[in-house]
Amino acid sequence: MLLTQRSTLTQFLIEERRRFPGAGGDFNALILDIALACKAIARTVAFGELGGVTGDHASEQGGSVNVQGETQKKLDVLSNDVFIRRTEWSGHLAGMASEEMDLPYQIPGQYPRGKYLLVFDPLDGSSNIDVNVSVGSIFSVLRAPQAVIETGRDVTQADFLQPGSSQVAAGYALYGPTTMLVLTVGDGVNGFTLDPNLGEFMLTHPKIQIPPDTHEFAINASNSRFWESPVKRYVDECLAGKTGPRAKDFNMRWIASMVAEAHRILMRGGVFMYPRDNKDPAKPGRLRLLYEANPMGFIVEQAGGRASTGENPMMAVRPTALHQRIGLVFGSKNEVERIERYHQEPVTTELRNPLFAERSLFRD
Ligand code: AHG
Ligand code: MN
Ligand code: MN
Repeated sequence: MLLTQRSTLTQFLIEERRRFPGAGGDFNALILDIALACKAIARTVAFGELGGVTGDHASEQGGSVNVQGETQKKLDVLSNDVFIRRTEWSGHLAGMASEEMDLPYQIPGQYPRGKYLLVFDPLDGSSNIDVNVSVGSIFSVLRAPQAVIETGRDVTQADFLQPGSSQVAAGYALYGPTTMLVLTVGDGVNGFTLDPNLGEFMLTHPKIQIPPDTHEFAINASNSRFWESPVKRYVDECLAGKTGPRAKDFNMRWIASMVAEAHRILMRGGVFMYPRDNKDPAKPGRLRLLYEANPMGFIVEQAGGRASTGENPMMAVRPTALHQRIGLVFGSKNEVERIERYHQEPVTTELRNPLFAERSLFRD
């Protein structure tokens, strides 16, 4: 399609803002700064080994480890810096929080402070960097508490502990065969593809909708011995295929970049699970609530899908810590609701016995 027939991200944001005549330009400017950060990361990722950006980050003390206890890759640290540098100066932010920083980031004294909080996972799927598989960035925009806006005081962890339902916007960038930005400002989900010639994100996927049904699921099956029984039941039934209680064959995918899995699900449906399990009692789930589960949950729900802890709606969870981990299930609505139902139903031997399974002759 010709350039003249597509909106740029800038045009899209300005046209959206016309619906709110009182709105200033702060929010749009913030989103455009984030988009620029994503473009910069996309270029850095594209150079790979040539750019010297693969491999682990080396600090003066040797390798570096983030607050999660994970070894930081060079690109984790670089992308974190890009997010900070591209957004701290503008006067739109009161503070930031990131997977790669133990504590909230304070806007330096030389810059004005604004009314939004930015929370991000600068590089998601970092285990895939060195093997040239898709990675991404995830971000969430929250309103700063009134007291922060009025006083311009430093932000605290507590200021960020807002439920997913309070998000003003959320999005991700996917650095795949093409670079895409997928965004919600609470009015549906729109996807933009980076035109590499113009350096502009162009609206290519307006009003994305996740099909409510699917026959594709994504889970890291190497954790199966640690799963709770409702998850085991769900996966067993998928694996049983046509001859099982679901009476249809399922397909399985695992990329190990949540952004890439989420994007596939937004494009053609599916269900993603990184459920709470009993692998490590100190970690109730693998993924992080504030910069992974909440933004992705907001996007998925705005696209007609569902996001859940497995038991309850993700958007209603009251966060208790900045780097809190949580079980995450999202995707096609009917599948996620089924998984939630399995968590609510008492586990009886009947459920585990195929003779009494849903489509069995032995059931009323
Ligand atoms: P990050 O690179 O930001 O730490 O996140 C990686 C996450 C997520 O993207 C992916 O779904 C999951 O970790 C993969 O975990 P496993 O290695 O356990 O499969
Ligand atoms: Mn991540
Ligand atoms: Mn990350």
